[in-house]
Amino acid sequence: MKNILIIGSTGQIGSELTMELRSRYTGNIVAGYIPSAKPQGRLLESGPSAVVDVTNAQQIAETVDKYNIDTIYNLAALLSAVAESKPQLAWTIGMGGLFNVLEVAREKKCAVFTPSSIGVFGNNSPKNKTPQDTIRQPRTMYGVTKVSGELLSDYYFIRFGVDTRSVRFPGLISNVTPPGGGTTDYAVDIYYSAIKTGKFECPLGADTYMDMMYMPDALNAAITLMEVDPARLVHRNSFNVTAMSFCPKIIYEAIKKRIPDFEITYIIDPLRQSIADSWPDSLDDSCARNEWGWNPYWDMEKMTDDMLTILGERHKKGLI
Ligand code: SER
Repeated sequence: MKNILIIGSTGQIGSELTMELRSRYTGNIVAGYIPSAKPQGRLLESGPSAVVDVTNAQQIAETVDKYNIDTIYNLAALLSAVAESKPQLAWTIGMGGLFNVLEVAREKKCAVFTPSSIGVFGNNSPKNKTPQDTIRQPRTMYGVTKVSGELLSDYYFIRFGVDTRSVRFPGLISNVTPPGGGTTDYAVDIYYSAIKTGKFECPLGADTYMDMMYMPDALNAAITLMEVDPARLVHRNSFNVTAMSFCPKIIYEAIKKRIPDFEITYIIDPLRQSIADSWPDSLDDSCARNEWGWNPYWDMEKMTDDMLTILGERHKKGLI
């Protein structure tokens, strides 16, 4: 039995991770949310939920006490492009929030998972097969909070013994809750547009490569890492993980094979393009593979079949 608090449970990752954790564990799996993003439907009905604003340490502590929480998944963050328009808020949520979570975890002996990102890398990092341990000098607020978060999480492990673990997620492709304000979001939007209108305006250049992953693999990564025997871990915050690397042209061609009339135009967003250009083309995730058995299931072809089937059915029912 585990008692888990998910902070940010109604976001792109949280809405699916909470349901997955509830299907795997029998304890209290508490959906933490802010009042403007309440859980609904099955997320609300299938287990406890609580208002937990990551910037409010007392709310975190009270919920941890009430539900006897042993593990916190701290998913609250602004994604890369929106963080550039609100850098102060991105810091308050990303770093102030993480500090609150780590302090509560230190006092109440919780394990903590906080996603990091390919955003920790920058123009000075090796571009291809970017190694686990290399230069991390991002020039985005998103990247700055993620690098700082990795360092702070390792500090809490080394100094206080808090069981902190993390992965550097690439772009996450999913069909339950849309992401908001990320640089990799185009790879989600393209599927919705293909199904809904048959046309897509791509904000990135055709040859812009980035790492990507389908959400079921991302959930597996987070849960597997939190379950592994800590004696196996050389690294903690944070592991490179990837499942595929592609550019808009390649994903467009994969969709066009299945929807022959699908059209794409490229209308470059300079902010997103500059962020994407500063991120790796592909990651080396061998440390995750060796230390805790990371092994993704979904590749681009399987994911494309699944995304188009699921979104196609939902479109027929008028749900999207
Ligand atoms: N998906 C994130 C973004 O694009 C990267 O981790 O901001």
